Amino acid sequence: MRAKIISTGSYLPKNIATNDFLSTLVDTNDEWITSRTGIKSRHLVSEEETTASMAYEAAKKALSDANLQPEDIELIIVATCTADTLVPSTACDVQGRLGAVNATAFDLNAACSGFVFALTTADAYFQSGMYKNALIIGVETLSRIVDWEDRSVCVLFADGAGAAVVMADETGLMSASLGSDGDKCHAIYVKSRENNNPFCPGEKPMDHLYMDGAAVFKFATKTVPKSIRETLEKVNLTPDDVDLFLLHQANMRINQSIAKTLKVPMDKIPCNMDHCGNTSGASIPLLLDEANKKGLLKSGDTVVMSGFGAGLTWGTVVLKWA
Ligand SMILES: CC(C)(COP(=O)(O)OP(=O)(O)OC[C@H]1O[C@@H](n2cnc3c(N)ncnc32)[C@H](O)[C@@H]1OP(=O)(O)O)[C@@H](O)C(=O)NCCC(=O)NCCS
Repeated sequence: MRAKIISTGSYLPKNIATNDFLSTLVDTNDEWITSRTGIKSRHLVSEEETTASMAYEAAKKALSDANLQPEDIELIIVATCTADTLVPSTACDVQGRLGAVNATAFDLNAACSGFVFALTTADAYFQSGMYKNALIIGVETLSRIVDWEDRSVCVLFADGAGAAVVMADETGLMSASLGSDGDKCHAIYVKSRENNNPFCPGEKPMDHLYMDGAAVFKFATKTVPKSIRETLEKVNLTPDDVDLFLLHQANMRINQSIAKTLKVPMDKIPCNMDHCGNTSGASIPLLLDEANKKGLLKSGDTVVMSGFGAGLTWGTVVLKWA
């Protein structure tokens, strides 16, 4: 039994920050951001919107799309690196909000690869026979860890949530590969709260996200095409056999480079970073829901999802769309 995606849902915060708006906060401009990243605007939470509230809204839509009740769900996995609370997990918060009383719920942190890691985790449970369905959610409030005075970072990241209901089935996920390189764990990082136990005294301000943009760019353009090729080879497929590539939405230039290396046209690589920015763990499920609602996914299509990000981590899945 493998993981088959049967429904999707998403939530984007109501507030939209355009490039022109950001140029009123830091020394930047629409031309620089658009040409370097492909991003034109992004959604940022208001005080009422949180990681858990966005995850809940996306989950409700995916459940309704699947014609399932919350109590039908056996497993909830939330991929996030920006939970509202260190404990409990966002997944437990969402479980409570939904009333998914029969589910086991936990979070997973693989940064921008998180949704792919969550999908493969559900798939592994299905293969073991432990669970038969799962609600998987990618959600981030990256605006809470960004330094709003750092122009090289604040123009990239944004908030949102995407969700999918997956069922154990004979079709669905065909092949997967995941990876991580802890040697590069400082290429993108943000510290958790500082320790102020009696042996670690002193005033310690909250840290912000740090990123070595050039190193991340190099890593993504090299690793993602390799990971996609290897995952396809496991099921005797090539990039030409793929109908749609749903890639992490970090940067248009990264996606164009991946397309060039794989020799696939950009019309097989839908992008939504122009209006969503980089939403890390939420980016692939947001794009998945958008593609699903636009009718870009047809029954029998071969679909590749591939994520990459902090860790460094990367992950690719190949699946048949039901
Ligand atoms: C971040 C990124 C867009 C920067 O693009 P770049 O072309 O490499 O730009 P650089 O960092 O070399 O900076 C070039 C100049 O633009 C400036 N700059 C940086 N951010 C700017 C901004 N928002 N507006 C205007 N100028 C900016 C820099 O200060 C630098 O100025 P200098 O030459 O006077 O020092 C690029 O490295 C990238 O896309 N990296 C991958 C990041 C990513 O996807 N991360 C998430 C992965 S999950």
